Amino acid sequence: MSTAPDPAASATSPPRATRGSARTVAVTSGKGGVGKTFVTANLAAALAAQGQKVLVLDADLGLANLDVVLNLHPKLTLHDVFTEKATLEQAILPAPGGFFVLLAGSGMVEYSRLTPEVRDKLLHIIDLVKPRFDWVLLDTGAGISDVVLYAVSLATDVLVVATPEPTSLTDAYATIKVLATQQERRHVGLVVNQANRVGEGKLICGQLQQVLQRFVGPQPGQTFRLELFAEVKADPAVKQAVLKRQLMLEHYPGCDAAQAIRALAAKLIG
Ligand SMILES: Nc1ncnc2c1ncn2[C@@H]1O[C@H](COP(=O)(O)OP(=O)(O)O)[C@@H](O)[C@H]1O
Ligand SMILES: [Mg+2]
Repeated sequence: MSTAPDPAASATSPPRATRGSARTVAVTSGKGGVGKTFVTANLAAALAAQGQKVLVLDADLGLANLDVVLNLHPKLTLHDVFTEKATLEQAILPAPGGFFVLLAGSGMVEYSRLTPEVRDKLLHIIDLVKPRFDWVLLDTGAGISDVVLYAVSLATDVLVVATPEPTSLTDAYATIKVLATQQERRHVGLVVNQANRVGEGKLICGQLQQVLQRFVGPQPGQTFRLELFAEVKADPAVKQAVLKRQLMLEHYPGCDAAQAIRALAAKLIG
């Protein structure tokens, strides 16, 4: 993955240079409100700080709120691209943190059901943006609805975000099981967010892996690996950043959670 500066890109226009194909990462979860948008936005900033060209696509079509978290007020959104009122170039916006966003906004509620039209349009957009970025992160909705699973299916890598709460863990388990059985994924990344103590992520990952292995790898040669990609501690700085509608990585760069997100970016790059 190249980190050379792209002379075609300016600070405010989306990159145009073709440098192969982006790595596409879906950030998803079983339960809602566990920190997908927080992880995605700050991960994007951490990747951008490493010289990577990053696009975050707000793929939580029903409950899109990336714009709120980033304090952006887009005039043009994915909705306008879907309805051909705007080009991708017009709808891809620079975000604080040095990455780009394609926001869904509230106009996307009508697309929260997976129709053939939504399928084709999302697929088409991913195909169009992949050559222009190093990374395309999909901030998806929670759960195992058709539209969430379809958005995840468009990504090569999946990160499932879960908190240590029992309800979040059972929902994460259900989601990962579906990804393994329906999408035949053999490797899923786990981000344990809002961890209460060091080592909790490893413990949770091990427990989930054990249960999953029983259902997902019953035949010889069919292994399934849940890999712990990050353990992000519950950190008051996260809530403060969200309240201020600022990126945690920019405003509390030294906090524990920021360090964990930078380590996650380094792990993905490495
Ligand atoms: N590591 C953390 N420490 C403390 N609070 C967090 C953390 N991660 C997320 N939160 C809180 O959880 C809320 C929901 O996060 P969000 O990213 O919007 O969830 P999702 O996208 O999964 O619905 C945030 O607004 C924030 O207040
Ligand atoms: Mg969200």
